[in-house]
Amino acid sequence: MKRRQLWGGRFAEGPAEVLRRFNDSFAFDRELLSVDVEGSVAWAEELGRSGVLRPAEARAIARGLHAVREEWAAGGARAADAAVAAGHEDVHSYVEAALAEKLGPLAGKLHTGRSRNDQVATDVRLYLKGALAELEAGALELAGVLAVRAADEAATPMPGYTHLKRAEPVTFGHWALAYAEMLLRDAGRARDAAERADECPLGSGALSGTPLPVDRARLAASLGFARPTANSLDAVSDRDAAAEYLFAAGLLLVHLSRLAEDLIFFTSDEVRFADLPDRLATGSSRMPHKKNPDVLELVRGHAGRAVGELAGLLALLKGIPLAYDKDLQLDKEPLFRTRATLAAAVPALSALLAGLTLHRERMRAAASDDALLATELADALARRGVPFREAHDVVGRRIAAAEEAKASLAGLGPGDGVTSADLRALDVDQALARRAAVGGTSPRRVRAAARAVLRRIERQRRQRRRTGRRRRP
Ligand code: ARG
Repeated sequence: MKRRQLWGGRFAEGPAEVLRRFNDSFAFDRELLSVDVEGSVAWAEELGRSGVLRPAEARAIARGLHAVREEWAAGGARAADAAVAAGHEDVHSYVEAALAEKLGPLAGKLHTGRSRNDQVATDVRLYLKGALAELEAGALELAGVLAVRAADEAATPMPGYTHLKRAEPVTFGHWALAYAEMLLRDAGRARDAAERADECPLGSGALSGTPLPVDRARLAASLGFARPTANSLDAVSDRDAAAEYLFAAGLLLVHLSRLAEDLIFFTSDEVRFADLPDRLATGSSRMPHKKNPDVLELVRGHAGRAVGELAGLLALLKGIPLAYDKDLQLDKEPLFRTRATLAAAVPALSALLAGLTLHRERMRAAASDDALLATELADALARRGVPFREAHDVVGRRIAAAEEAKASLAGLGPGDGVTSADLRALDVDQALARRAAVGGTSPRRVRAAARAVLRRIERQRRQRRRTGRRRRP
């Protein structure tokens, strides 16, 4: 199928090869074909309803568009590559060319009153709706895996760290739920962004609006949008939804990167609190003993790239005058790359989290280290009336003395302001049980928190299903 030039009339000669190589976007924006067809079908139908096209013409165009999409899907990757090699400018001109093959001159009526500017803005919104829904689902899936593990490990002690130094005991469940909280916020962010993105740019024309008597609210509803955009200049050049998607994805990946970093540490040879499942670890071509956390390292690396994608898009947007400028063509690849990254990373990480083997005894032994229980001893002194500052000092001196004597905090026995009743506070399970206030690490709290997280996940999933139904006519 030949390239169909959408704008040749006023030019004395065709586009130079060097222009086409730089200007054409079909090699990547073909990813929008399905949503582009969806938008065009809705436009054709609205042209029919508003009397711009005869009903039979609108129907024929819509049918033709559906056929174009089906053939594209059936053709697979090979046909798509061949279409790109044939040199189409972009996904919009390709679809129109494919439609013209079927309908002849009638295909030329589809673009009445429309511009590629409102068309592509609509495509991007439709695409982002899918991408944001996927992000939300992915974040909820990971939060769910973590909450299930947290319920099982609500009483599994492990060291908690600050500055990566042993600080106070926590439970593995509490650790897992910390990430579940981050992921629930990520899912909420995707939802908020989807609501803001829920406006239809179609009918904004090139920049000033469409001169046709179309009903934009009806058009928006037919595409599953809540409402039409309010200002045509803004609508054709606004890419906030793309930036919000990249931010939500970037922050999700930042959270996952922190999780990955923790797990790289926990599974390291020096720590060994946990082991990766064999089927989710990698080996070395040279060192036969190696079992490497590549999945986790890739998550960490992708987080860095995702941050760059967001920075790149914001930099692209900051200088463009109203309304549409071709810079905006470059908004798409970061979206495609980021969505593909999440689609690969989330299932891998989810399987890894579910399959992680814990070495509970090693974790408990590490969590019972004196270093983690010094706060407990100071609190015990404070409970019987010693001002906490003074208790802190007493325990500090005892730590120095214990180090000197190569003994444990309890091993020194009572004395120097510490009673034998105080020393009974040096117990990891007691320390955990005491943190029973909301948000704390006591096993009972963690069990309840895990249940609460699972309920919140279910509630958000139900909301998704409901809005999904409402929005799709
Ligand atoms: N491929 C273009 C893009 O993605 C479509 C819009 C072209 N509009 C224009 N005025 N050149 O932005």
